[in-house]
Amino acid sequence: MELFSLSLDLTNSIILGIVSVLVIYWFWLKPRGTSSSSSSNSTMSLIKPAKPLNELSAKPSGVAHEGSFVDRMIHSGKTMVVFYGSQTGTAEEFGQRIAKQAKRYGISATVCDPEECDMEELQRLTTIDKHIALFCLATYGEGDPTDNAQEFYEWLREDGRELNNLHYAVFGLGNKTYEHYNAVGKYVDKRLEEIGGVRMCEVGLGDDDGNIEDDFMAWTTVFWENVCQKYELVINADGTSMRQYKLVDGPFPPETVFTGEIGRLKSYERQKPPYDLRNPYLAPVLASRELFEKGCTRSCLHLELDISNTRIKYEAGDHVAVFPSNDEALVNRIGELLNVNLDEVISLVNVDEDAQKKTPFPCPCSYRTALTYYLDITSVLNTQVLKEIAQYAINEDEKAILTLMGSYSEEGKIKYKEWVLDSYRSLVHVLEDLPSLKPPLDHLCELLPRLHPRYYSISSSPKVHPTCVHVTAVVVHYKTPTNRFAKGVATNCFKELHNKHQVLEISENPPENGCHVPGRFPIYIRKSTFRLPFKFQTPIIMIGPGTGLAPFRGFIQERHFYKTQNKPVGETILYYGCRNQAEDYLYRDELKYFVDEQILELYVAFSRDQEQKIYVTHLLRQHGEKLWKLIKEQNASVYVCGDAKNMARDVHSILIDIAQAHGDMTAERASAFVKELTQKGRYSQDVWS
Ligand SMILES: Cc1cc2nc3c(=O)[nH]c(=O)nc-3n(C[C@H](O)[C@H](O)[C@H](O)COP(=O)(O)OP(=O)(O)OC[C@H]3O[C@@H](n4cnc5c(N)ncnc54)[C@H](O)[C@@H]3O)c2cc1C
Ligand SMILES: Cc1cc2nc3c(=O)[nH]c(=O)nc-3n(C[C@H](O)[C@H](O)[C@H](O)COP(=O)(O)O)c2cc1C
Repeated sequence: MELFSLSLDLTNSIILGIVSVLVIYWFWLKPRGTSSSSSSNSTMSLIKPAKPLNELSAKPSGVAHEGSFVDRMIHSGKTMVVFYGSQTGTAEEFGQRIAKQAKRYGISATVCDPEECDMEELQRLTTIDKHIALFCLATYGEGDPTDNAQEFYEWLREDGRELNNLHYAVFGLGNKTYEHYNAVGKYVDKRLEEIGGVRMCEVGLGDDDGNIEDDFMAWTTVFWENVCQKYELVINADGTSMRQYKLVDGPFPPETVFTGEIGRLKSYERQKPPYDLRNPYLAPVLASRELFEKGCTRSCLHLELDISNTRIKYEAGDHVAVFPSNDEALVNRIGELLNVNLDEVISLVNVDEDAQKKTPFPCPCSYRTALTYYLDITSVLNTQVLKEIAQYAINEDEKAILTLMGSYSEEGKIKYKEWVLDSYRSLVHVLEDLPSLKPPLDHLCELLPRLHPRYYSISSSPKVHPTCVHVTAVVVHYKTPTNRFAKGVATNCFKELHNKHQVLEISENPPENGCHVPGRFPIYIRKSTFRLPFKFQTPIIMIGPGTGLAPFRGFIQERHFYKTQNKPVGETILYYGCRNQAEDYLYRDELKYFVDEQILELYVAFSRDQEQKIYVTHLLRQHGEKLWKLIKEQNASVYVCGDAKNMARDVHSILIDIAQAHGDMTAERASAFVKELTQKGRYSQDVWS
């Protein structure tokens, strides 16, 4: 009886607790001034964290996302909707650009994140006369959609879907170095036709390994020709510039001004888990260390980022995303070239009140904040930007060259390739080389793409380092063909920090000027599928030259940990490569320690220590028979990390060759065998280009 009343008390307390939490949430935590629909959105963002970066500013606090997208289109007289599936912003940027182009053809378009829309409504879109549904979709991983397109992708694949008479077109974004090239774009295009859609234009395939800008521009030309033909519109491709955002001058109350936060205002002062793309954690850097030997002209840094007391969890093989900030000198140079007071606080507000995206980045903020934390100022300028800023060149020759490159004529394409792409001309370079060009900074802020986070394969195991994540990053710097010194954004933030020895104690004080206090980086963890086998006994073969070693350092730490727990750990084999033994051999002493501990079998290819180049791929070929036995007889798992372009491709074909040579298979059978390995999760890649 006592037990019964005790359990009743407990149940009551639990119910009371839940009710109290809900009441507190409703009255205190629910964003003010939002409709119920937006409140459900904010809950969703907690459970589905990863979203395209450009969209983060789409809903400044307090802006409701109301109604269905079709109702909103009908309400504002729009006939075209552009959906984007984007991870690092390119697909969204292309989506915005094509929606802007639509105005030239008298079409009013809206850009939508599929994750924010009820995609069942697509059928209702057909009730709008001369409607168009356009999809700009990037492919990731093993031919997977981006996080924000995942739900739509799965919905589309379900049996029984019908989208009769939906007028659609697809532009896919991908990279030919990956096996599943543009798989998502191709699939969605095919599937929409299968379920009754009417294709307005052949699917476009953008290749990020080539010139994706060119692919996109070429495709949009054909797309608009088809649309004009079908809907009997007049091509008016002269392209008068139309502003998408209007400049709102201050004054703004200081407490409303963003200072570099990615999501919520003041989020870095009052950090609240869970941490994700919308709400990164400002992680203190506990340590940084140069991994290359003294005298080496290159630099590779080992960083340790503190995640204690954050509820952030990770597994070996996950990625850490780091939000970088642009070089202060470069930001100042833009202010200087345009003669602008960078500390002026401004806001950019969408002229289309029904647009999902209200501001291009968190606003209000100072120009300095926008250029430091929100905008990509170091990539080469795209043709759309050149086209739009041409009007601000006073010198006629300079105006002509910009107009030509933005025109997308044959001559313009050649000039753009030579003058911008091949010369790596970014914003500052263009402004320096065309001195009469003085675009208003607010217009530039509207046009520049968002600065996106950089991903790093975590180089530690949570079994050994539960409260910090390790990063192993090569510092990017190079000379451009116009004799300028260029630096990678994120890795030079790391380098600067390392050089200044600014590794600070965890500060209790909120940052004063800007959010990225020295010694801290905004981060979040992105889960990956790059995982150790479930059974400790399963042998693993890891192939990771250069910084491809990163996740394997975590794997080795973890296998060593299990061994110290007296677990039976299978063979752990690493193929690592670097230029030479004396300069860039990463974690040499650690690797030696694991070899001595008999946890690791290590093979290193030093490419430049002898006359003939030796790479990991040479060693793999030499060890073909042994590798085959491990894979075939002992169910070993194979992992590849690092360069997607050459190394990962070569490893893939070597595996096929090994299966052919030692498994007595035909080329087709060997290829199918390697494919099966992938499908069974026994051949995984964590590669980037
Ligand atoms: C899933 C994943 C995991 C990754 N893991 C790691 C890792 O563990 N370690 C690691 O070091 N990196 C890793 N990367 C790469 C990393 O994300 C960054 O791309 C890299 O550190 C460069 O970032 P950055 O901001 O310093 O350079 P950016 O500012 O992004 O500049 C890089 C760009 O500069 C240009 N560039 C570079 N060199 C030259 C040159 N010689 N000539 C002309 N142009 C040039 C290229 O356009 C290049 O894309 C990973 C990437 C992904 C997608
Ligand atoms: C980690 C990673 C994995 C990728 N996987 C693929 C792939 O499997 N197939 C493909 O065609 N492209 C792949 N890509 C290329 C991207 O789709 C391409 O860069 C695209 O432009 C990114 O668009 P976004 O910026 O909108 O996310 C990959 C890129 C990265 C960084």
